Amino acid sequence: MSENVVHITVRPNGPLRVEGHIVLKDADGREWDLTGKPAISLCRCGMSDKRPFCDGAHARNNWVCETAPPDNLT
Ligand code: FES
Repeated sequence: MSENVVHITVRPNGPLRVEGHIVLKDADGREWDLTGKPAISLCRCGMSDKRPFCDGAHARNNWVCETAPPDNLT
């Protein structure tokens, strides 16, 4: 995996797994300290108590979401 490319994987019924050189900021430009973290999981179900990070609430609540892209995407 190239260090210059950030890879985002949409996990089935789960978070967005983000791998690569990541800078994560809030709307005011304050950064989360991601030192030593080569990857993070961002909540996309909205139920995490640790948003923007996933805390596993999606699984505890049996959250279901389609993950496949439309056929016209590569
Ligand atoms: S995706 Fe895991 S808690 Fe929301």
